[in-house]
Amino acid sequence: MAENLNIDWSNLSFSYLKTDYNVRCTFRDGKWGEIEVSTDENINLHMAATCLHYGQEIFEGQKAFRGKDGKVRLFRIDENAKRMRASAMGIKMEPIPEELFIEMARKVVELNARFIPPYGSGSSLYLRPLEIGITPRVGVSPATEYMFIIFATPVGPYFKEGFKPTKVAIYREFDRAAPLGTGKWKVGGNYACGMGATAKAKAAGYSAALFLDPKEKRYIDECGPANFFAIKNNTYITPKSDSILPSITNMSLQQIARDLGMNVECRPVPLEELNVVEEAAECGTAAVCTPIGEIFDEGMNHTYIISKDGNPGPVTTQLYNRLRGIQLGEVEDIHNWTTIIDA
Ligand code: PLP
Ligand code: COI
Repeated sequence: MAENLNIDWSNLSFSYLKTDYNVRCTFRDGKWGEIEVSTDENINLHMAATCLHYGQEIFEGQKAFRGKDGKVRLFRIDENAKRMRASAMGIKMEPIPEELFIEMARKVVELNARFIPPYGSGSSLYLRPLEIGITPRVGVSPATEYMFIIFATPVGPYFKEGFKPTKVAIYREFDRAAPLGTGKWKVGGNYACGMGATAKAKAAGYSAALFLDPKEKRYIDECGPANFFAIKNNTYITPKSDSILPSITNMSLQQIARDLGMNVECRPVPLEELNVVEEAAECGTAAVCTPIGEIFDEGMNHTYIISKDGNPGPVTTQLYNRLRGIQLGEVEDIHNWTTIIDA
């Protein structure tokens, strides 16, 4: 149970707060070693490690929730484990066995149980699994040694607005990924690529940058930290693109939309379609499901007004409530998405 740690659980932002332990595992001599439990926030790294020079870094994002029934749940952790393997293979790193990933995620939650925010606070314990290449190299080639770490930190909403419509901006001079690049994997370099647009968006008061497809700049790709979806005529519409991260939240919302009797279309979404959509949102582990009220296209000097009254749309609200309900044990988990942790 969350102890009296002098933390204002209901007013946490999405930022790093030290917890008690992190868990680590190293791949050396062709095999993964024992799981180590550490209280150290630092890592000892060779200055020529491949992660520092050639971007051999991948990560994941996941949340543990204290539910209405007092139980702690992880949401679709197997999907994070699978995606981490895909990311590793994408940039020639060592894939982490799914069982190891899940065991370490469980362990870090159990060890940091006193940092799991209480039910009703709106906050959760965020897990950040990361893998880095640690072999010293100056020539460009993959490492033979890797370190896998999971740390945990309690967080509140990613966007300070919470569940309120946010504004996003399109800046055509930036791409977050190349058409056949690493956009579909969770590679640190993608966020470096998107940093210019994100910084420009934040400085101008937008919550995030919205990227167009890097090949034609005709279709919507995704936001800096989250996927995009729109609602029109009882249909959930979300971009199909090879340069976006396959979001586990998006995949889940598509299923929830079907469960609610909606149609789902996963296809290229032309920018002009924003003129006719009824609702739009960003979705992801950190973002959950954040309504988008306005989209500013700087190149065209045009603003698409999605939310006419400044409130979240009814369908986005329904999807958000169902997703949160499953994560918090308030709604029956009919698809077996959650894993209960003894913490
Ligand atoms: N797209 C990007 C670029 C992200 O960083 C994230 C966050 O993980 C997502 C989408 C959402 O993915 P998920 O729902 O699996 O967290
Ligand atoms: C997540 O949603 O977990 C992410 O990794 C997004 C990140 C940019 C905060």
